[in-house]
Amino acid sequence: MTAHSFRRVLVTGAAGFVGYHLSDRLLGEGIEVLGVDDLNAYYDVGLKEDRLSRLRGREGFTFLRADIVETDRLLELARAFSPDVVVHLAAQAGVRSTDPWPYAKSNLNGFLSVLECCRELRVGHLVYASSSSVYGANRSAPFREEDPVDHPVSFYAATKRSNELMAESYAKLHALPCSGLRFFTLYGPWGRPDMAYYSFTRDISEGRAIRLFNGGDMLRDFTFVSDAIEAVVRLLGRPPGDSEVVDGAPTHRIYNIGNSSPVRLADFVQCLESEIGREAVKVLLPMQPGDVPVTYADTNRLRATVDYVPNTPISKGLRHFVEWYRNYHCVADTGLSLPGEVSTQPGAMA
Ligand SMILES: NC(=O)c1ccc[n+]([C@@H]2O[C@H](COP(=O)([O-])OP(=O)(O)OC[C@H]3O[C@@H](n4cnc5c(N)ncnc54)[C@H](O)[C@@H]3O)[C@@H](O)[C@H]2O)c1
Repeated sequence: MTAHSFRRVLVTGAAGFVGYHLSDRLLGEGIEVLGVDDLNAYYDVGLKEDRLSRLRGREGFTFLRADIVETDRLLELARAFSPDVVVHLAAQAGVRSTDPWPYAKSNLNGFLSVLECCRELRVGHLVYASSSSVYGANRSAPFREEDPVDHPVSFYAATKRSNELMAESYAKLHALPCSGLRFFTLYGPWGRPDMAYYSFTRDISEGRAIRLFNGGDMLRDFTFVSDAIEAVVRLLGRPPGDSEVVDGAPTHRIYNIGNSSPVRLADFVQCLESEIGREAVKVLLPMQPGDVPVTYADTNRLRATVDYVPNTPISKGLRHFVEWYRNYHCVADTGLSLPGEVSTQPGAMA
């Protein structure tokens, strides 16, 4: 028996970073999970397989390899499982790619497929991943869910904002209860190799240079993955209802999932250096297209709804990540201590 109002959860993107952690947590609480993922090669498939191998064989876990764009197949799988809740995490992630088609396929057509399944099966709650990137170059921080979000600076952000509008229409037209989660830079064990904290850890450990865009002068609201999962699990049992209308359709709500405590990228790197025990070789570069200078979550709505907000400090979160990284990649502790001074010469290969 579980303490939750739901018993069966369909998780798309279950072999991904967030999908793995969520599935792991739900299984630990006795919830049945059907994981769906196409195991695409956007990043190391071996890492996705390794995450899955930790879930496979656990009581209550079923995995099916499928592309969410294939609506009929997804519907067939979902119908057989009959989920109470669908958590949709499968997406083409990352803000920097210049090829729009994988984003259009997985994030637009794929999302429509998921919406159609939920409508057809009358799912009690669809919880889907949006992103802090929808705030674009918004300057009024902290970012509130009510802020205007009409100026995406990447195509990825445009697809995530589109998802919010698509969910809004399904919530209105079909009374489908939907919660959209604007995740703010999640990091942690079993993370994504395409994200900066992961590649920085690899490069610093191997003595290679890291590139700091905007000279490291960017603020990021880094959110430890277990904190985000805690927020997600609490929200699963809280589908929006008529009594909670704040904006938009009565059955659609959007939440910021962030630490509400932005950190300068340069400070983040310093923290990584001290965890790894090695000074980074830094190349300071200008801002990149698709990047934004600051992300900063206002989490009042989340707190008011589930009485919880993420709060792990980066020093603690990065310790967990580096520890996992070393074990997973069999990297020995460098045993080196940091020199007193860190070179931050603009444009220099220190
Ligand atoms: N990690 C973050 O910092 C972050 C921040 C903001 C938003 N998000 C969003 O959260 C969600 C989860 O992110 P993540 O970090 O776990 O990413 P991830 O890439 O690790 O996981 C996504 C998974 O979805 C699968 N997938 C992609 N397209 C698919 C398709 N068409 N059919 C079936 N499976 C498909 C991939 O194989 C992958 O395993 C994504 O929607 C992402 O856009 C993540």
